[in-house]
Amino acid sequence: MLKNLTDTILLSPSIIATDLSTLGSVVATFDQSCMHFLHIDVMDGSFVPNITIGPGYIQNLKQHTDIPLDIHLMIEKPELNLQSFIDCKPYFLTIHFESTRQPVRLLQSIKNSGIKAGISINPATPVEQLFDILAYTDMVLLMSVEPGFYGQTFIPSSLKKIEKLNTFIRTNNCNTLIEVDGGINEDNIADVVKAGANVIVAGSSVFKSSDINKQARKLLEIAKKGQ
Ligand code: DX5
Ligand code: ZN
Repeated sequence: MLKNLTDTILLSPSIIATDLSTLGSVVATFDQSCMHFLHIDVMDGSFVPNITIGPGYIQNLKQHTDIPLDIHLMIEKPELNLQSFIDCKPYFLTIHFESTRQPVRLLQSIKNSGIKAGISINPATPVEQLFDILAYTDMVLLMSVEPGFYGQTFIPSSLKKIEKLNTFIRTNNCNTLIEVDGGINEDNIADVVKAGANVIVAGSSVFKSSDINKQARKLLEIAKKGQ
């Protein structure tokens, strides 16, 4: 299905920016050739000041789409609920570095379940903190806004962070994708790709459009200018 992920720019539209109550019927209209993943933000009201959805909703949504899922857990102690998200069989399952004392164990559990394991860091966490554990991850998700809400403004210093991580990955021949999440739009997506991102999350810049497939295609076209 998805091959050579490192050579392609992949779009992961963030469903938190849709009407979640009707998404089940709308998701069938999503064009998988430009919406490569569905980015699903799980928030617990503790790790972040917002509450969204849990595994029950995700299992229901899965019945309506074949688009692979990209689950982003913004919850304290993900070890307490990890299995229920593994059971959703996403393509990527990402935990936050700041949310647990045992990131490596959790990444191993995810990988051992045949799911790509992601680790995410908030804007205030230096990317160097991940260098020692990159071997255990398939993807690093760099937050380019404080997690919690869609529709925020991209933090410009994120570009340097992407570059730093990209340089480390290339120098050390790591097999790790870079996903960037928060405030990405037509004006900055090419810069994000140029800095080294492979997987782009976009919430409001896709879903606040009247033609979301057309908008996703447009974002991808602009993104490719940064390659
Ligand atoms: C923020 C979430 C993001 C967000 C992206 O905590 O992790 O995925 O929904 O939305 P935009 O692209 O609007 O910033
Ligand atoms: Zn997210």
